Amino acid sequence: MAKIYYASRTAPVNIATLKYWGKRDKDLNLPTNSSISVTLSQKDLRTLTTASCSEVFEKDELWLNGQSHSLDTPRTQQCLSDLRKYREELEARDESLPKLSKMHLHIVSENNFPTAAGLASSAAGFAALISAIAKLYELPQTASDLSKIARKGSGSACRSLFGGYVAWEMGELENGEDSKAVEVAPLSHWPDMKACILVVSDDKKDVPSTSGMQLTVKTSPLFQHRIEKVVPQRFEEMKKSIVEKNFPLFAELTMKDSNSFHATCLDSYPPIFYLNDTSKRIIKLINLLNDSVGEIIAAYTYDAGPNAVIYYEQKNESRVLGLLHAVFKSVDGWQKIDVKSLTPPSIEL
Ligand code: PMV
Repeated sequence: MAKIYYASRTAPVNIATLKYWGKRDKDLNLPTNSSISVTLSQKDLRTLTTASCSEVFEKDELWLNGQSHSLDTPRTQQCLSDLRKYREELEARDESLPKLSKMHLHIVSENNFPTAAGLASSAAGFAALISAIAKLYELPQTASDLSKIARKGSGSACRSLFGGYVAWEMGELENGEDSKAVEVAPLSHWPDMKACILVVSDDKKDVPSTSGMQLTVKTSPLFQHRIEKVVPQRFEEMKKSIVEKNFPLFAELTMKDSNSFHATCLDSYPPIFYLNDTSKRIIKLINLLNDSVGEIIAAYTYDAGPNAVIYYEQKNESRVLGLLHAVFKSVDGWQKIDVKSLTPPSIEL
């Protein structure tokens, strides 16, 4: 009987608080600006992937949530070839190692959340794929090294290689060797921080992120201003606000950056609209809440879709979630409110 080698890893979804939007190199997924995100905890939104290889496998295969999927996209192929190269280096150094780099891979992945719900599933997916194969191949590379491979699969996936607060440093090199994720602080650094995801719509994205970014880079004058004059300073300020656990500053920067990213989408030609009326009502409500309290206790942020992620501190949970529930539970078109937290929620809506 031929031996089957296998390893499993999970990777959670990450939600950007300083958005990546714009590629300077489409093939290598090199960004036009650095970004920051919070990786949710393993028990919330995550992908679990098992990678196996054997001499008897006849081709590389992938099953996602029980269904067969193609591995033949250029991005996935690039990731597999990078990982095999690292394994070949190990095998060249140590003759006694099994030649896993020469065997076909079977990958089985499962998300613990609806893949189509517009919740950044590709980031968790690529990060889990890269980590599982790196474990199978017993690679010595660091999480930052592996993040460069995950980045080629899906840009934001590089940040899901780390838990907690993560920065993706855009780098300067043309080959992308310095464009990698680094830890700003672990999840345990700020135990009071919580995130709540409001699923406004689980329709598929209007404009996929890659084509949306290309359009913005090509047509939006506001975009140039954002990457040159706004993001570099915001990147440093946001890292500082995390290290100092300064919630009002972190929240203000998060909301401003979500606004700035969506403004560049609107400034694209033709314009891209990711927010819908419900998203805009949530923005108004969070601003009203912060105004009425007299300090910033909640922040909203939106990726390339209408779903809101609300950040707040545990001590303010009943105020924030209580208000959202009171206002939105009976709105037409409101499909469901899912509460996902960095620590177990004390309030279930
Ligand atoms: O990694 P992609 O290609 O799915 O792009 C992600 C873009 C945003 O989610 C809008 C922002 C981000 O930094 O995650």
